[in-house]
Amino acid sequence: MTNAVDLTALEEELKADISGAQSLHALEDVRVATLGKKGRVSALMQTLGKLPPDERKAFGQSVNGVKTRVSEALDARKATLEAAALELRLATERADVTLPVRLGPEAEGRIHPVSQAMEELAEIFADMGFSVAEGPDIETDDNNFTKLNIPEEHPARQDQDTFYFHPNSDGERLVLRTHTSSVQIRTMLRQKPPIRIIAPGRVYRSDSDQTHTPMFHQIEALVIDEETHMGHLKWTLEEMFRAFFEVDEVTMRLRSSFFPFTEPSAEIDLAADVIGKPGQWLEIGGCGMVHPNVLRNCGIDPERYQGFAFGMGIDRMAMLKYGLPDLRDFFSGDMRWLKHYGFSVLDMPSLAGGLSS
Ligand code: PHE
Repeated sequence: MTNAVDLTALEEELKADISGAQSLHALEDVRVATLGKKGRVSALMQTLGKLPPDERKAFGQSVNGVKTRVSEALDARKATLEAAALELRLATERADVTLPVRLGPEAEGRIHPVSQAMEELAEIFADMGFSVAEGPDIETDDNNFTKLNIPEEHPARQDQDTFYFHPNSDGERLVLRTHTSSVQIRTMLRQKPPIRIIAPGRVYRSDSDQTHTPMFHQIEALVIDEETHMGHLKWTLEEMFRAFFEVDEVTMRLRSSFFPFTEPSAEIDLAADVIGKPGQWLEIGGCGMVHPNVLRNCGIDPERYQGFAFGMGIDRMAMLKYGLPDLRDFFSGDMRWLKHYGFSVLDMPSLAGGLSS
């Protein structure tokens, strides 16, 4: 049986090729040359038909045996090569996470105190179950005023020193939003109660002096549910201030006031001890229970639902927390100021790790 001798030699040769393959790629070439459609073992199978019938069976079995053993050798070699490749990757891609952070250009950049304050507040409110809502800076008159229960001729429109756009082709007059309260409307039109959102962002009023800039930042909060009351509002404010200023106690005062979109309404004052003015109060924002007309304007039944809203000046909060005396510096783009008062890009505010460490 000359064929049997040939097969043994062939098997030896193929096994040598397999163990000689130094990469997965080389091994794949061997596999194709052996078991592929035109491979050497497959070619032998095709010669079966030309053999005398009495030799066919034995030869077929022998070739099949070779095929099985070669195939096993291929699998084994593949597993070895794969394990080696993984070892190599693990060795070369090792990262020592205990090394200090390399100070590249990223560490040169600074987070603006206003961005920092927004991040911190978002973190605090996320912990209380609020999500972040957004609205555009360019707002419709309807969202900024009318739906907030401020009709066309209401004096509040003058109070706010609004920047108006020229009327568009439909005669509609857009505004630069004068407060983030417009996001209350957008949220209530889109979402059914219960609602619990904050909306930080830029607002604009034609007003400029030491403590006023034509663009500044507010953070709005809105909670609508069936049993939400003033007590919840006050607790939420206190919790937020304690977390934000990173102190155990905050002296806060709600001073009766008026906003068309809340009833009752109050101004939020903070004791100014923190900034070295004992006995004085600092106005930090407005708040109140959402006016039934506002709920109705947004398709929410005021007989069933009620809730609170507040809006606060983020820049003022940042001034108080970080001890920044002049609001105008915030927006002057002075790199020295930013280097001094800015925050590291690498520090993410978190309640567990410290808000502004
Ligand atoms: N929008 C008001 C302002 O900008 C603040 C406010 C918000 C008051 C929500 C009450 C409720 O002055």
